[in-house]
Amino acid sequence: MIKLLLDVDTGIDDALALFYLAQAQKQGQLEILGSTTVGGNVEVAQTTLNTLKIWEMLELDIPVAAGANNPLLVPLSPAPFVHGDDGLGNSFLSPPKKMRAEESAAEMILRLSRQYSGELTVLTTAPLTNIAVALLQDPSLAQRIKKLVLMGGAVFTGNVSAVAEANIANDPEAARIVFRSGIEMTMIGLDVTHEVYWEERDLEPLIKIDNQRSAFLLQIIRFISAAYESLSGWRRIVLHDPLAAGVCLFPDLVKTEKRYVDVELNGDLTRGMTVVDRRGRTPLGEENMEVALEVDAERFKTQLMQSLLVWIQEG
Ligand code: BDR
Ligand code: CA
Repeated sequence: MIKLLLDVDTGIDDALALFYLAQAQKQGQLEILGSTTVGGNVEVAQTTLNTLKIWEMLELDIPVAAGANNPLLVPLSPAPFVHGDDGLGNSFLSPPKKMRAEESAAEMILRLSRQYSGELTVLTTAPLTNIAVALLQDPSLAQRIKKLVLMGGAVFTGNVSAVAEANIANDPEAARIVFRSGIEMTMIGLDVTHEVYWEERDLEPLIKIDNQRSAFLLQIIRFISAAYESLSGWRRIVLHDPLAAGVCLFPDLVKTEKRYVDVELNGDLTRGMTVVDRRGRTPLGEENMEVALEVDAERFKTQLMQSLLVWIQEG
């Protein structure tokens, strides 16, 4: 069974990824060993509360260890206009009952990597600061992780700039450390996540069930859809983080190419860009990750909707 550690900046689409993974765990498809939080969509204090709260809503007792608030070298640039002041679409949920773990995120990452050496899948849906901090403390972490599935980066596009994706752009130095670490990686970037979205008409199954749980999900989905419309012109939720979660369970949801990928740190137009070398020969370095280029969007959207509906119908 897949043994999973999540690193998240919960966040609306992170929250949907947690709902999806929780359902998979209830069906015996994986075991979530822990979750670590980082500053990204909002400050780490809030992403930690949100993660604790989502696990509570799902009635799961999964430890949450808080990590870095700020990127390695620069201040945090949160995105409350996209995710809400509370990171969950201004739903302002009551505080979680459970406290965060006493260990830090880096400590949890290192501890689980030792306890489950060679078995641990890590899913990151956030800036890579915590993984980089753990690697700086112990570079041999790279050899103990079975696989890291990362939501971030892009081959041909960007979101926070023409060429950079938010999770990488928020901490490019951390991303570079992780990309160069030797960890076995799969990059789920914007090239595939932009294909996987819901518009209002796709929400019909949620709308049909009128209870508190569906109201919460509709609130957060509609909040981010409206924000995305003001930024891009399309009223939709792009299912970035849930897709990366889906790939942990079903790698064949995406078609990948093994490539050398590095991160631009300096360009005034290109800082945070993932530079993907698609030449036949790769003089920059050895291919260091699988890069997703195609996705079976319909299959995943159906899976995700089904797992949300199970939770709603239990409510
Ligand atoms: C990524 O950035 C965050 O805003 C989302 O939660 C997702 O992880 C998309 O670029
Ligand atoms: Ca995220």
